[in-house]
Amino acid sequence: MPNPRRDALIARLPKAELHLHIEGSLEPEMLFALAARNGVAIPFGSAEEVRAAYDFSNLQDFLDIYYQGMGVLLHEQDFFDLTWAYLRRAAADNVRHVEIFFDPQGHTERGIAFETVLDGIERALKQGEVELGISYRLIMCFLRHLSEEDAGMTLDQAVPHLGRIHGVGLDSSEVGHPPARFERVFARARSLGLHVTAHAGEEGPPAYVREALDLLKVERIDHGNRALEDPALVERLVSEGMTLTVCPLSNLRLCVIGDMADSPVRRMLDLGLKATVNSDDPAYFGGYIGDNFRAVAEALDLTAAEIVTLAENSFTGSFMPMADQIAYLAEIAEVARD
Ligand code: HPA
Ligand code: ZN
Repeated sequence: MPNPRRDALIARLPKAELHLHIEGSLEPEMLFALAARNGVAIPFGSAEEVRAAYDFSNLQDFLDIYYQGMGVLLHEQDFFDLTWAYLRRAAADNVRHVEIFFDPQGHTERGIAFETVLDGIERALKQGEVELGISYRLIMCFLRHLSEEDAGMTLDQAVPHLGRIHGVGLDSSEVGHPPARFERVFARARSLGLHVTAHAGEEGPPAYVREALDLLKVERIDHGNRALEDPALVERLVSEGMTLTVCPLSNLRLCVIGDMADSPVRRMLDLGLKATVNSDDPAYFGGYIGDNFRAVAEALDLTAAEIVTLAENSFTGSFMPMADQIAYLAEIAEVARD
């Protein structure tokens, strides 16, 4: 049942978002506006028609539309507008820190310069820091359906901008594209001082989560749902204090779960796993971080203490300095006390 007290707590808690693909925040209205501004043809007559097409049976169904949607992003201003719109939504949900993914290969393969993408996203993030008080980290993802060599060329493009990019991730079609294929490029990213994370266990088996840990040496697991099938892996993730960036509405819309009541968030917390709640691709999956918190809290009837833990985990699982994490924990404790 909806619970206004619980929703008020969710709204008042400071939060960090650790799993957000900026291209997945492209709302149908902006898709239309940018298609018109840039003279890009799209096979839809209205924003409503676009929304109706967002009916996915699995990850690949979604990715096909997601890559198509990116086609309207051409200029630095487009990437700025996209990112700025996301940050305003995040601010409205009391998000104070974001660690956002972008998919450079989704743009460079269309002939857009790496710098055009980076400049636009970063300009919005910097403005968000000043005007909205949202700090950030920027994580560049490799598309795992492409080769490790292609990922390596993307890392080469990032090297002149190392101070501006804070980490690398691994996304796109999971099954059939195991983390092991990216061991060398991740080793190079780590040697360059970049943080490392990877999508694993969204559709792929627990073995992919193990590979992400053992071979890519990730600091976080994005999704991680299927880790729950392997008790020894769960034990390891608990003992290592590994953060899992769970995305409840994404799981539902991509049929990773059949019902929100099947969300792994409660089980993860019960097992001592460090779960967080995130929106993944909010424009495609029906909601931003506040929507994700409310949906999962209602379906699982999460307690105030569990919701507080999720907010704490979002900061302690982030790449922000420890002193800043501690300050947010103090603020969360204050909100929780009221
Ligand atoms: N999984 C894998 N790749 C992605 C996703 C996701 O949820 N969103 C955008 N790219
Ligand atoms: Zn994702």
